[in-house]
Amino acid sequence: MRDLWAMPVTLSDFEASAHATLAADVFAYLEGGAEGELSLRQNRASFGRIGVLPRLLADCAGGHTRTTISGQPAAHPIIVAPMAFQRLFHSEGETATAMAAAAQDAVMVVSCQTSTAPEDIATIPGRRWFQLYMQADHDSTMTLVNRAVDCGAEALVVTLDAPINGLRDREVAAGFVLPDGVRPVMLDPLPQPPRPQLQDGQSVVFDGMMVFAPTWVDLTRLIADSPVPVIIKGCLRAADARRFVDAGVAGIIVSNHGGRVLDTVPAPVTQLAAVVQAVGQDVPVYLDGGIRRGSDVFKALALGAEAVLVGRPVMHGLIVDGARGASQVLRRLRDELEVTMALCGCATVEDITPDMITAFGGDPISESDS
Ligand SMILES: Cc1cc2nc3c(=O)[nH]c(=O)nc-3n(C[C@H](O)[C@H](O)[C@H](O)COP(=O)(O)O)c2cc1C
Repeated sequence: MRDLWAMPVTLSDFEASAHATLAADVFAYLEGGAEGELSLRQNRASFGRIGVLPRLLADCAGGHTRTTISGQPAAHPIIVAPMAFQRLFHSEGETATAMAAAAQDAVMVVSCQTSTAPEDIATIPGRRWFQLYMQADHDSTMTLVNRAVDCGAEALVVTLDAPINGLRDREVAAGFVLPDGVRPVMLDPLPQPPRPQLQDGQSVVFDGMMVFAPTWVDLTRLIADSPVPVIIKGCLRAADARRFVDAGVAGIIVSNHGGRVLDTVPAPVTQLAAVVQAVGQDVPVYLDGGIRRGSDVFKALALGAEAVLVGRPVMHGLIVDGARGASQVLRRLRDELEVTMALCGCATVEDITPDMITAFGGDPISESDS
């Protein structure tokens, strides 16, 4: 365990400290984006184009970050994003992340590619959602759903922006492969779909991989059969968002998968207002991608998000000091949000209205590009 005084302070301090200890190939897996990583960089840079516009002399005594997430009371609007294979980063993996989330009263989204059994994660108290990749057959999908729900998942987060893997060149160049002992433990027991036999001239992508990719039909069936609400993750288009609401989803996460799947898709924060407008008050909208400061959380809330999800920084905390490090990262982000709220004259998250932000400079300014 680290000496508390030697603990990094800001999320970028945690990032630097994590990188100093991580093997190069695992680092490439964690940090890498798709292809030229333009979306990855935009995720950060886009927050640097938004400024905050303080409201002076507001009475903020007794203020707080309490809010509602998906209809349930929450201490703050910061959620742990689903991330695969957390045992790559710490021997206690997802269990340590669950402890950190519980310590900070944060909702945790457990990845479909968890490297820790959901039954083990369930031994830690706390609110949890389960991120689902729909499988080639509905029975396998429902096996995952039922196991997750039995382990306490109160909602599904169905990721739709990665029907096939993106081309993560940095990761491939670094030669990353899953080490022995780190496995997608929920997916391993499922039957493997048959491999389509490709004829001459057929496409590996369209006639191979995309044959099993989910469609609207599959989502509609899942919504009908799921015992818990279905939130979708990976939406960037306002028109899609409306259609998701009409199909019966319980929430929408505006996300580009942390820039890891398709390069040159826009930063989610640039699409948030349009999605919120399309959805209205019908379901909550969430945002992830590039959140590294409490002021970023503030900006997302001003644009209409109910809460944000944070990915890589939680893993940086995990790498630095297990559950305690991840907990520190979440605490710091919340502290920064509180300071931003107080200095902007917002006593509660309801006070973080669209007029609290403004354009900031012509060029993107960000602390860190990754
Ligand atoms: C190492 C890693 C693994 C991830 N695994 C998943 C996953 O299994 N399912 C998923 O929906 N998103 C996954 N994501 C994407 C995150 O949920 C989230 O969208 C993204 O990390 C947010 O951006 P940020 O890292 O800048 O906060 C992963 C991201 C990282 C960095």
